[in-house]
Amino acid sequence: MISRESCTARDAADALAPLRSLFAMEPVDAEGVVYLDGNSLGVLPKATPARLRDVAEVEWGQGLIRSWNTAGWITLSERIAGKIAPLIGAAPGEVVVADSTSINLHKILHAALAARKINRQRILSERTNFPTDLYIADTLAKQNGLELVLEDTAGIAEQIDDRVAIVMLTHVNYRSGYMHDMHEITRRARDAGALIVWDLSHSAGAVPVDLQRAEADFAVGCGYKYLNGGPGAPAFAWAHPEHIAWMDDTKWRQPLSGWLGHAAPFAFSSEYRPAWGMARFVCGTPPVLSMAALECGVDTVLAAEQAGGIAAIREKSIALTQLFIDLVEQRCGGHDLSLASPRAAANRGSQVSFAHPAHGYEIMRALIARGVIGDFRAPDLLRFGFTPLYTRFVDVWDAVDRLSAVLDSGEWREARFSVRAAVT
Ligand SMILES: Cc1ncc(COP(=O)(O)O)c(C=O)c1O
Repeated sequence: MISRESCTARDAADALAPLRSLFAMEPVDAEGVVYLDGNSLGVLPKATPARLRDVAEVEWGQGLIRSWNTAGWITLSERIAGKIAPLIGAAPGEVVVADSTSINLHKILHAALAARKINRQRILSERTNFPTDLYIADTLAKQNGLELVLEDTAGIAEQIDDRVAIVMLTHVNYRSGYMHDMHEITRRARDAGALIVWDLSHSAGAVPVDLQRAEADFAVGCGYKYLNGGPGAPAFAWAHPEHIAWMDDTKWRQPLSGWLGHAAPFAFSSEYRPAWGMARFVCGTPPVLSMAALECGVDTVLAAEQAGGIAAIREKSIALTQLFIDLVEQRCGGHDLSLASPRAAANRGSQVSFAHPAHGYEIMRALIARGVIGDFRAPDLLRFGFTPLYTRFVDVWDAVDRLSAVLDSGEWREARFSVRAAVT
């Protein structure tokens, strides 16, 4: 039997444990909250409020418009892209930070469609891919006379053939936490002459990603999950250097050809001329405050470098998710919960989902009322995210302890837990 003491001992021996002090955990701890939703919104880094105050009071308040030059606002996107690049196996100039994941996906898919083999009619994706990815792809497919074909997770590889123009997948599935074999799927796409677009929203900062070594084509990802950039943080996009060269050669225009993606924005020319490389993926003025917060978030992940970096994060992530699965299965039997995430650690991202046939929503609300914050994904998933930078082994123990109490007491049946909130 696993004990709380054994979890505390694992925390004491954990090389990543000191990184928890980079986060504003005091209010979380004071409330007795166990936060298992960093896969949706990362915890506030301690550095962020002071940095935001500085940007507001000094850079904006005193520097005013001069700060575009003097405080480097105009190169913020480039600077943060350079910090995200090593986390995804990319070179700094291949990444751009801008807009939301949805918007970046629109721009990237547009580029992929322009670069595809013209006789191919399909965009292939996973049936349970995140809805925004499917909506964006479906709209673009229809506009370009293509078809969005959806397949179950296990059948994706088999469907990659010479009808497919683009394979578009989220590396770690937002529902099940299933992690695709990026290298294998990318190789299959290459062999079949298809292009591949990876959504790294649930990967960046959580699992090792090596886009260059995988020889992927394009990628996008989110700033507010494991990168801890804050609510609505800007997102990122990446293209393989061969596509960057192709865009430059063909003067390819992105579909949102705004002034800050122009080769010379301050020439104020009436004709659009794309900037060189990924800089063309910028559209309008960057949200400086949000960018500043994102940089603080990315810095927390980079701070793990001395404790083993992303490899150490992955190792602890596997240990945390495994502990959670083991404890739920030991302590929450007889309540109709079934594991909805891969049992094999190699196929699992940094989250675990359990399905409940009818009352997942109410159980999650009751659990949140007991201070364990996960989330619910309709129709039946209780979803728990584990962020090795601040999640402790003892948090896992406490979370399962409270989950078993919620289930054993049946308190989730109280009417108040069935009232649906706008955000689940
Ligand atoms: C896989 C995936 N892609 C995209 C998004 C949404 O991105 P955004 O709201 O930044 O456009 C999410 C949000 O949770 C996601 O999980």
